[in-house]
Amino acid sequence: MRLFLAGSVLLSAAAYYVYLPLPSGVCEPWKLMLLDALFRSFMHASDVAHALGVTHRVHLVNQIVSLAEVIEAYPCPAVHVFDSTLGGVSTRVFQPKGGKKLKRGVLYFHGGGWTHGSGRMRSYDHMCRRMAEDLDAVVMSVDYRLAPEAVFPEQYHDALAASRAFLSAQVLEHYSIDPERVCVSGDSAGGNLAAAVVQEMTSDDSLTVKFKAQALIYPVMQALDFNTPSYQQNQAVPILYRPAMVNFWLLYLGADSSLETLLLANNHSSLDQPAISARTRSKFDWTTLLPDIRKKQFQPVIRETGSLGVVDELPALMDVRAAPLLAELEVLGRTPKAYVMTCEFDVLRDDGLMYVRRLQEAGVTVTSDHYEDGFHGCMAFAFLPMLSSVGQRSLDNYINWLDQNL
Ligand SMILES: *[C@@H]1O[C@H](CO)[C@@H](O)[C@H](O)[C@H]1NC(C)=O
Repeated sequence: MRLFLAGSVLLSAAAYYVYLPLPSGVCEPWKLMLLDALFRSFMHASDVAHALGVTHRVHLVNQIVSLAEVIEAYPCPAVHVFDSTLGGVSTRVFQPKGGKKLKRGVLYFHGGGWTHGSGRMRSYDHMCRRMAEDLDAVVMSVDYRLAPEAVFPEQYHDALAASRAFLSAQVLEHYSIDPERVCVSGDSAGGNLAAAVVQEMTSDDSLTVKFKAQALIYPVMQALDFNTPSYQQNQAVPILYRPAMVNFWLLYLGADSSLETLLLANNHSSLDQPAISARTRSKFDWTTLLPDIRKKQFQPVIRETGSLGVVDELPALMDVRAAPLLAELEVLGRTPKAYVMTCEFDVLRDDGLMYVRRLQEAGVTVTSDHYEDGFHGCMAFAFLPMLSSVGQRSLDNYINWLDQNL
């Protein structure tokens, strides 16, 4: 009897821990709940370790991830897989075997809030193997340095160094990559790096080889409005909660975590900030950049007065290398055709959709692929054990787009 009682208490505690009310319409809510419980337990464990002074919370999460998720570059029948460096940055290479003709090339930046993740993780490794095989493309997955050890602009510089090396005559020749068929891609924070790098490189006249396409998966695009309709709607939807995204920004920019509440309140972009001009505001003004169907009933959070000096202290908030949404139309207009994948249940949905709109205004051909049942990170869960349905669908469509456009 006592055992039974203890069992039921434990079971209800577990159910309570796992259970989370999710918005209706999200794909496979039970899988998402389990995933979220797993993530939260990692976070709680690392919070405890952090509080005890054992290790920085970021490190513990990264250690757990490397133990559970990082895999060797094991060989497979159709693709050579090995770890190398690209422009001095460690990179996993996926090179299709055989065939005389030139290959397509894809440079990939993984997600993880500029803080977590690796191209050597099972999910990214599997994704790149599949791309290499299905597209007969040489895929390189870049392990740029991570926060808190590296902060902006170091991640960006790593991404740029790897991209320059990828497009160099030496690398293109060595891997038999067709210089006319190269693409840069990435998800989440990696989508941010891909977008920033392609803006810089297409504006650089000294480069003869240019990316033919950019494929951005639920990218992070701006840090001046943390109350877009998608930030409001999805603030409590796993796996990327609104405060977590703000914290990733603070880690990336090397800023104090105490700024979290201020940023969540949009106090850093209040109307009395002299550093933010009306022109800059128009570049992240969702009331004009988003279609009505996404604005729904949400109201903009625009403060008359806020906390002055934050933008001066953290100029990166306004830096296009960190926030590619803020680029000038002339810069955007030079970037190649784009694929932007967004998910309805993602705080970053509107970052991506506003970028779609600004690219279109600049005259770029854009495929906007929106998943009404998608959640942030779903593509990385297309594989076992999660086998997320929306993850698989979106991965198929992404690879299909690359096949037709690269
Ligand atoms: C935001 O700014 C207002 C006005 O300056 C101030 O009263 C408030 O405390 C600030 N909020 C935060 C969270 O910093």
